[in-house]
Amino acid sequence: MKIFVTRQLPEQNFESLKINNNEVVVSDFDRGLSQQELVEQIMGADAVLSLLHDKIDGEMMDAAGPQLKVIANYAAGFDNIDIAAATERGIVVTNTPSDQVNESVAEFTMALMLAVTKRVVEGDESVKKGAYSGWQPEIFLGPTLKGKTLGIIGLGRIGSMVAIRAKSFDMNVFYYKRTQDPDLESKLGIKYAKLDELLQVSDVVSLHVPGSEDTRHMLNAAAFSKMKKGSYIINTARGFCVDEHALVEYLRNGTIAGAALDVFSNEPHVNPELVGMENVILTPHIASATREARAEMAQLAIAGILNTLTNKIPENIVNKQVWEKRRQ
Ligand code: GLV
Repeated sequence: MKIFVTRQLPEQNFESLKINNNEVVVSDFDRGLSQQELVEQIMGADAVLSLLHDKIDGEMMDAAGPQLKVIANYAAGFDNIDIAAATERGIVVTNTPSDQVNESVAEFTMALMLAVTKRVVEGDESVKKGAYSGWQPEIFLGPTLKGKTLGIIGLGRIGSMVAIRAKSFDMNVFYYKRTQDPDLESKLGIKYAKLDELLQVSDVVSLHVPGSEDTRHMLNAAAFSKMKKGSYIINTARGFCVDEHALVEYLRNGTIAGAALDVFSNEPHVNPELVGMENVILTPHIASATREARAEMAQLAIAGILNTLTNKIPENIVNKQVWEKRRQ
């Protein structure tokens, strides 16, 4: 079987994929492939280990050929893959929602929340450019987090881990998700709110929803207009969940005091208006970038491929309904 890995991964030689005479082809480039390069290299693959910058739609699956059986996405999210098209073709898709990833993203969310409210990056920049002239009572003021309200949109594994961490900072935590979860609510000591209500009461809003057409521009002008004056936005989910133009407008009019974004609408392009704003922290999609998480993600992606190719249902299958009618 031919296994195509679209990009080299940290500390990986993919030895474990080479069982049963599998041929493992790893992209020569240490960068995301263009769609044209991907079409050329994916051809003939039985399995693909893809990254979140690889757009794999039905056409790309057909370009790979009828032998393509599994796409293992090295990411918790899978909005870069057309799941319906894969299912229709009998192709298994897996992802890597590991505990290590969830913890890394939850920790990073806290890092962003602390950095944007405590103005850590602005302070660092001012010292480095020589602007520090001694202690002053009124520079870089921001809120205390204790007693403030965090609104978590999406209470999956990452959202829950953020809730636990925020509670340890003595924050009040509200969450919104499609289906209320009273058990988890009482276990974590948090409260459910409808989305509008959550936006109205939160001092910090953090997004933890999957990227999909349902969540596209979930935070738009209408949503921002409901937020408290002086509140903050954190996004470690997917960039397109936020309408960036509306965000710029609400940052400018002071409704939103600051935003910390690890993801962007049109990666790797970053909206220049956001780049120009001091009260915005922009990081290069690194919320899961811990050594531990990346190692676990590689293991899970490899397991997704090996299990599928040896007819064992992978733990992290995204389209379970395909299993009985999968390509073999
Ligand atoms: C990163 O964004 C991921 O989905 O793993």
